Amino acid sequence: MRTATGLLVLSATLLGAASARQLARRDAPFDWSSLNSSANLSWTPCYDAFQCARFTVPLQYSNTSAGESQIALIMSPSNFSTGDPNYLGSILFNPGGPGGSGVQYILEMGPYFRAIIGPQYDLVGFDPRGVGATTPPLSVFASAAEALQFYATYPLNVNDSVSSLARAYVQGGILGNLTVDRAKDVAESVGTAAVATDMLQISRALGQEKVNYWGVSYGSILGATFAAMFPQNVGRLIIDGVSDSHQWYFGTQDTSSMLDTDGVVASIYAACVAAGPSLCPIWENSTALVDARVDRALNALRVAPQPIFNDTDPAATTFAVADYAAAFDGLFESIYFPYSEGPVAAAAIAALEQGDGSLVYGLSTEAGLTAISQDCTGSSGPFGVGFLDIVAPVLCGDALIDRRRSLAQAREDYAAMRNLSVFADVWYPTSIEACATWPIQAKDIFNGSFQTNTSTPILLIGNTFDPVTPIQSARNMSAGFGGSVVLQQNSTGHTSLSGFSTCTALAIREYFQNGTLPAAGTVCQPDTAIFEAPNNSSASGGVTISLRDEAALGLREAKRALGDGTAFLKRTWFPRWA
Ligand SMILES: *[C@@H]1O[C@H](CO)[C@@H](O)[C@H](O)[C@H]1NC(C)=O
Ligand SMILES: *[C@@H]1O[C@H](CO)[C@@H](O)[C@H](O)[C@H]1NC(C)=O
Ligand SMILES: *[C@@H]1O[C@H](CO)[C@@H](O)[C@H](O)[C@H]1NC(C)=O
Ligand SMILES: *[C@@H]1O[C@H](CO)[C@@H](O)[C@H](O)[C@H]1NC(C)=O
Ligand SMILES: *[C@@H]1O[C@H](CO)[C@@H](O)[C@H](O)[C@H]1NC(C)=O
Ligand SMILES: *[C@@H]1O[C@H](CO)[C@@H](O)[C@H](O)[C@H]1NC(C)=O
Ligand SMILES: *[C@@H]1O[C@H](CO)[C@@H](O)[C@H](O)[C@H]1NC(C)=O
Ligand SMILES: *[C@@H]1O[C@H](CO)[C@@H](O)[C@H](O)[C@H]1NC(C)=O
Ligand SMILES: *[C@@H]1O[C@H](CO)[C@@H](O)[C@H](O)[C@H]1NC(C)=O
Ligand SMILES: *[C@@H]1O[C@H](CO)[C@@H](O)[C@H](O)[C@H]1NC(C)=O
Ligand SMILES: *[C@@H]1O[C@H](CO)[C@@H](O)[C@H](O)[C@H]1NC(C)=O
Ligand SMILES: *[C@@H]1O[C@H](CO)[C@@H](O)[C@H](O)[C@H]1NC(C)=O
Repeated sequence: MRTATGLLVLSATLLGAASARQLARRDAPFDWSSLNSSANLSWTPCYDAFQCARFTVPLQYSNTSAGESQIALIMSPSNFSTGDPNYLGSILFNPGGPGGSGVQYILEMGPYFRAIIGPQYDLVGFDPRGVGATTPPLSVFASAAEALQFYATYPLNVNDSVSSLARAYVQGGILGNLTVDRAKDVAESVGTAAVATDMLQISRALGQEKVNYWGVSYGSILGATFAAMFPQNVGRLIIDGVSDSHQWYFGTQDTSSMLDTDGVVASIYAACVAAGPSLCPIWENSTALVDARVDRALNALRVAPQPIFNDTDPAATTFAVADYAAAFDGLFESIYFPYSEGPVAAAAIAALEQGDGSLVYGLSTEAGLTAISQDCTGSSGPFGVGFLDIVAPVLCGDALIDRRRSLAQAREDYAAMRNLSVFADVWYPTSIEACATWPIQAKDIFNGSFQTNTSTPILLIGNTFDPVTPIQSARNMSAGFGGSVVLQQNSTGHTSLSGFSTCTALAIREYFQNGTLPAAGTVCQPDTAIFEAPNNSSASGGVTISLRDEAALGLREAKRALGDGTAFLKRTWFPRWA
């Protein structure tokens, strides 16, 4: 369990120079309140090369007297003007969460999307309801200190002690009642059906009846919901890292997310065995032995947590305790990004074996506690944190069935999930667990089927091994969308953004530029292995492509920009405290 002793921690060691640059840009002041919100888009230059606008929509589409919401929008403009035959319109993006900021997504990953997609589109990010600069904010906590009081004791591992699961359960109940008292109107209006309708309104304001879209992770629920609600308004639409929308709307349990989680871990350990001891610091001669070695190192922390204390610079002393829960959580976070973080995690475990727990501690975004304690703001408005306070209103508010469960039922749900993977210990309290006590349903709901023919067939992307969105969910969802195709990226990690594949990049570019779907059954190889010798940069996902062409195609730039984007994705998918 997290306690206040974790407050002052190492500054984020995973942030490289490139990320520091982005943070500077991300934090560059821009006063969104200086923009007038209107139902007609009017763009103002912002953040150097971008355009920003605020767009007015009804707070509830089902009751237009309930007030208004102002959606924050950002655009990275196409190189071509609207009259140019090369101009293809706009693409909307969502980075997942729920709770991820589409504005930050375009600010930080726009260069990646531009390099992959080409110059023909405006790339448009928006903060979904309840997030970032979109108003009204979803403000559940009265102060940063109160948010910290809530989250610092919220168990991120429900199997950490005998009371952890029950504690998560009762804290969920407290959060629900706090939200009813302080933010009910907003919480009722942040559901996926409302956001999907916003996407249609945004596109129409941009002069398009057809919505182009690329959403990852929870963004796949948003994309699938849009396609099911407005099949005749589907332009070129990609959902990537696909969740099962049936379960999202109709499930009391989550029995699908973790189908491949243990396979993810096994594939990373297999990559370690194949790479050898010089590239993988926790190498053993079989996957089972690597597994046992990692277990041994982590389990030692159960009885003997390690202190982290650094007073090298007395003006910036940091301290924390590396315990089992933090280390296990760090391991879970690292399996979302095996290509960038697998080697980092392996080195951290090797250091842990040598008595240094600081690296393994640094794998967990618990480090984000620093952010909330120091600057006293969250990512979703004043004293919104952007973790359970937005996940619960969206995930639980979307449900078309009553998800409330007794504590005994919640224990069974957790046990069923743990049958799929030991990582249920950390996934359960950050996902459907909160719904067991959640009292608010979204006002705008979609109560239809995911069986439809869209005006343009959609593209689904799934990794062979994804820790929380198994490829089977992509196949299940594809079965309902006429003419759709699943592209399998033969990699490990969460969404195609976790590992670069030239083959996937070219397929996405061709779909957005020409509307051409890859052939059914297409499998794209990743460009690199998880544990790879430095400078092995000529790989290209099984696609034959000369280095000169690669440069011309912007793929080198895409690879670089994707690396820069990992810090953003990590903050988005593990927003816990920051
Ligand atoms: C917002 O509206 C006010 C009043 O109409 C106007 O003075 C101001 O220039 C507008 N601001 C922007 C950024 O358009
Ligand atoms: C928005 O544009 C439409 C059509 O161009 C126009 O009829 C309407 O009056 C405008 N609304 C506002 C608030 O400017
Ligand atoms: C619509 O919202 C208004 C303002 O909140 C409220 O007074 C009214 O009862 C609502 N109507 C319905 C049908 O819910
Ligand atoms: C867009 O235009 C700028 C300036 O004309 C040029 O430098 C840049 O290479 C173009 N970008 C693309 C993606 O074509
Ligand atoms: C909790 O963790 C322990 C140790 O790994 C395990 O034996 C036990 O089965 C777990 N509890 C549940 C309910 O799965
Ligand atoms: C939340 O409110 C409901 C209804 O008033 C009440 O039954 C429940 O016990 C409350 N939960 C908590 C944790 O206080
Ligand atoms: C693997 O390592 C174990 C223990 O170090 C050793 O007994 C075994 O022979 C090794 N197996 C292979 C195939 O190298
Ligand atoms: C301790 O902190 C200093 C900066 O104050 C840093 O340079 C150094 O790398 C840190 N040491 C460890 C072991 O993290
Ligand atoms: C959804 O539709 C079904 C069948 O049409 C109906 O029974 C159910 O009550 C609806 N659910 C909601 C939440 O409106
Ligand atoms: C977990 O799996 C075991 C063995 O397959 C089974 O007996 C048990 O019923 C399962 N538990 C749940 C809650 O699904
Ligand atoms: C996926 O990659 C693995 C090696 O990482 C390889 O063994 C396997 O055959 C590949 N699968 C497909 C379907 O390409
Ligand atoms: C789009 O189609 C045209 C004509 O068939 C072709 O020349 C071009 O290479 C295609 N673009 C992509 C990105 O595949």
